[in-house]
Amino acid sequence: MNEQRKKPRFPFPRYPRGWFQIAYSDEVESGSVHPLHYFGRDFVLFRTESGELSLLDAFCPHLGAHLGYGGHVEGESIRCPFHAWEFGGDGRCTKVPYARRIPNKSSIKTHHVREINGLIMMWFDIDGAEPSFEIPEIPETNLEEWTPFAKRRWKIRTHNQEMAENVVDIAHFRYVHGMKIVPQPHLIEPNYPVLKMETKTIMETPAGDVEGILSVEAHGFGFSTSRFTGLVRTTVIASVTPIDDEYVDVRFSFTVHKGQGDSIARGIGKAFTAEIARQLEEDKPIWEHKTYFEKPMLCDGDGPVGAFRRWCRNFYPEWYIEQAAREYREAHGTIA
Ligand code: FES
Ligand SMILES: [Fe+2]
Repeated sequence: MNEQRKKPRFPFPRYPRGWFQIAYSDEVESGSVHPLHYFGRDFVLFRTESGELSLLDAFCPHLGAHLGYGGHVEGESIRCPFHAWEFGGDGRCTKVPYARRIPNKSSIKTHHVREINGLIMMWFDIDGAEPSFEIPEIPETNLEEWTPFAKRRWKIRTHNQEMAENVVDIAHFRYVHGMKIVPQPHLIEPNYPVLKMETKTIMETPAGDVEGILSVEAHGFGFSTSRFTGLVRTTVIASVTPIDDEYVDVRFSFTVHKGQGDSIARGIGKAFTAEIARQLEEDKPIWEHKTYFEKPMLCDGDGPVGAFRRWCRNFYPEWYIEQAAREYREAHGTIA
């Protein structure tokens, strides 16, 4: 582990359990090697010549080289740039070219990866536990009916949980994003691992106000879909992955239903992408500079922040929650 400790910004744990996007499938070709830094740790992602994808801890157990910098795929293994030891996708050492015997225990820790919806996702659990849920396949990846993803990416100084809280913070839609009304969700369902929210919205368009439905599904803190129906159906997949104690990596993938023809969908897609990206830019400075109150002063027009925060606790083990609260108290003297 190569995690650094600073004064914690939040009184809850930094790294929730779940599936988190680490790349797009089309960025990782056969034979390619990618160094990654997420969860305050270093990893190497590679695809073998037969197309198998693997995510390993970055450092070679021999003398510690980072396999992601100068490592090469050799058939079904990755070769270390330092002394050419080779490791399979299961992390086992398969070859030491200058030794008669491969040392016992010479293996590297592997991590669960899934390729789904055109995304490459890794499983993270602070205790190293196996995946306890899966990300569903979504219909929007069917290119007969939906446009290919338009992609946007941001690095933001915040926490997954803080970004996710936006969904239930209904008043901010009016006052940050300029929505015509404070949306009144007719459905909020915080189950493990999926939180659902559905609300009527009013979108301003050049053709006048259009009523629509926004329906959000958050599968833990790493992957969510927001579906807008109204004039046309549009979907944005939001992926948020912790980088380290301070930052998260945010990828938005946009797609539009082609029901009214390709060129209309493309035009709407551009406007939709620009609008949602604009909304995120409005949230960003607030997220980057806000503090977190455990007992916020809420009013009767606010959304169900308390229920949301209880849902969040599902994604951290109890000892981790206690440790984060203790470290926060020690650093700041108190929890507000
Ligand atoms: S450090 Fe990797 S082979 Fe020596
Ligand atoms: Fe927002």
